[in-house]
Amino acid sequence: MKIEELIATNSAIVENSLEKYMQVNGYGLENPMKYSLLSGGKRLRPFIVLEAYKLFSKKNDIEKAIPFACALEMIHTYSLIHDDLPCMDNDDYRRGKPTNHKIYGEANALLAGDSLLTYAFYVMSNNDLVSDKCVRYAIKELSWLSGFGGMAGGQMLDINCHVNSYKELEKMHSLKTGALIKCAVLLGYYASCEEPNEEIVEDLSKFAMNIGIAFQIRDDILDKIADESVLGKPVGSDEKNNKLTSLSYMTIQEAQEKVDSLTEEAIKIITKYSNGQESSLSSLAKYLVERNK
Ligand code: IPE
Ligand code: IPE
Ligand code: MG
Ligand code: MG
Ligand code: MG
Repeated sequence: MKIEELIATNSAIVENSLEKYMQVNGYGLENPMKYSLLSGGKRLRPFIVLEAYKLFSKKNDIEKAIPFACALEMIHTYSLIHDDLPCMDNDDYRRGKPTNHKIYGEANALLAGDSLLTYAFYVMSNNDLVSDKCVRYAIKELSWLSGFGGMAGGQMLDINCHVNSYKELEKMHSLKTGALIKCAVLLGYYASCEEPNEEIVEDLSKFAMNIGIAFQIRDDILDKIADESVLGKPVGSDEKNNKLTSLSYMTIQEAQEKVDSLTEEAIKIITKYSNGQESSLSSLAKYLVERNK
């Protein structure tokens, strides 16, 4: 199957599962939650969860990995709702629609984000298709990588401009974006095995960090050069907010070369696990290099 087709197939599965998870009564809070969660998005992180699961389980019974994939997308969506708030990036447009706070107001957007974050852990802990031990590994990883040890920590460095060199910028990228992508690949792996192997965890983490940093560099490039109607979010947000991004340290061409080399390295690492052959994860890495949204 071509990578575009596999992305579409996995997205449809994830979409369907997310809709089911959102058939809840949340005293009205379910409306802003659904507004952002069910509004499209590339579903990249769930894709990685499902494909990492398949790669290591050598099976196609992805039901085991679906709760993890959906929980991670909930956390990611919460991070976007909060990222767009006036106190953070103050953006009005996301996934091709007005941002959550533009429709529901800041207080409800804040609560919708909080509720997606906590609901994610409810969904994770209810995954009874895998062992309790596997659930515990997965929850431990997700809670660490989405909080101060990962995404939220990176957002803090970003918001407070705590970056003084390219090396520090890379650290920020690895936290704010790399952490959830690392989580994606590890959740898929944990769903596939009883006892994680340290060497595999290390390789998967390196693979994901390379893709994650490349993904954020491409995001910084798209913030400058993309077509807003394709991107589905504002172009020029970083400049408006005087953000330090990859393009504060290099030209667009140099940044793209960095995306290419990080991706090449990532592909080398992951190919070890598919007998030197192309896998869906290596195809995804390649596909992301030139993405326009
Ligand atoms: C946007 O993530 C935030 C970043 C980490 C750059 P995505 O580009 O994956 O956003 P969606 O999920 O497709 O909307
Ligand atoms: C945010 O980075 C990454 C998150 C953890 C949400 P950006 O602020 O560059 O993401 P976009 O461009 O708004 O999607
Ligand atoms: Mg931001
Ligand atoms: Mg932003
Ligand atoms: Mg951006």
